[in-house]
Amino acid sequence: MKSIYVWDLGVRLFHWSLVIAFFANDWFIDDDSDLHQYIGYFVIGLLTFRLLWGFIGSTYSRFSSFPISPQACLEQMQDIALQRDHIHVGHTPLGALMIYNLLLAISLIGLSGFMMTTDWLWGAEWIEEIHEAVVVWAEVSIVLHVLAVIFESKLTSVNLSRAMITGVKEIPEHKA
Ligand code: HEM
Ligand code: HEM
Repeated sequence: MKSIYVWDLGVRLFHWSLVIAFFANDWFIDDDSDLHQYIGYFVIGLLTFRLLWGFIGSTYSRFSSFPISPQACLEQMQDIALQRDHIHVGHTPLGALMIYNLLLAISLIGLSGFMMTTDWLWGAEWIEEIHEAVVVWAEVSIVLHVLAVIFESKLTSVNLSRAMITGVKEIPEHKA
């Protein structure tokens, strides 16, 4: 196995804190409570950190290392269709699309949540509906995200979930 250090501590702490905070707010905490709002503000803090980290973090955390590229997405789809186990050290092109989608969706959840608490929109139905609709969009995206992580791990024989915990991708020697 060849070990490559990919995810710095900033990305890993961001990821697992986001997972815990998102599930807490979505499933466990009463959405009418102050705690829901505090956790929501924590999520907004995490997103702000990630935005900054995308410019000053280590190589693979930077947005410049995973740009949106339709061409690269098409190539990855061909790899998948032909069962080619092309290994990407950082995020894959399709993975990058999903990440921007998740970051945007969760930002919209935070923004609409905050707007609900203002005098201006207090009690307005439409903003509550937007908050809820984007939560559903994020939930569907998360299911796809996790399925894609499992699929890509199987295809490439690289345990991506473990890499998001340890920071290190273990790549089989003959593919490294
Ligand atoms: C991880 C981020 C968040 C998630 C997953 C989340 C999830 C939810 C969900 C599922 C609901 C119930 C929607 C419904 O049934 O109508 C809700 C309601 C609400 N959320 Fe959030 N939320 C988040 C962030 C925030 C933030 C940042 C704020 C405000 C600072 C906020 C304020 C509210 C308010 C005021 C309600 C309506 C409560 C009520 O009157 O019933 N949320 N949220
Ligand atoms: C147990 C469930 C989850 C697992 C196993 C998981 C695993 C992963 C892995 C392996 C990556 C890196 C993908 C790659 O190698 O390119 C990743 C990235 C990411 N995941 Fe998850 N994930 C989970 C749940 C979630 C949830 C619930 C959210 C959102 C609330 C989320 C948001 C993200 C984001 C934003 C990134 C990009 C990380 C970054 O560059 O900052 N994940 N996830």
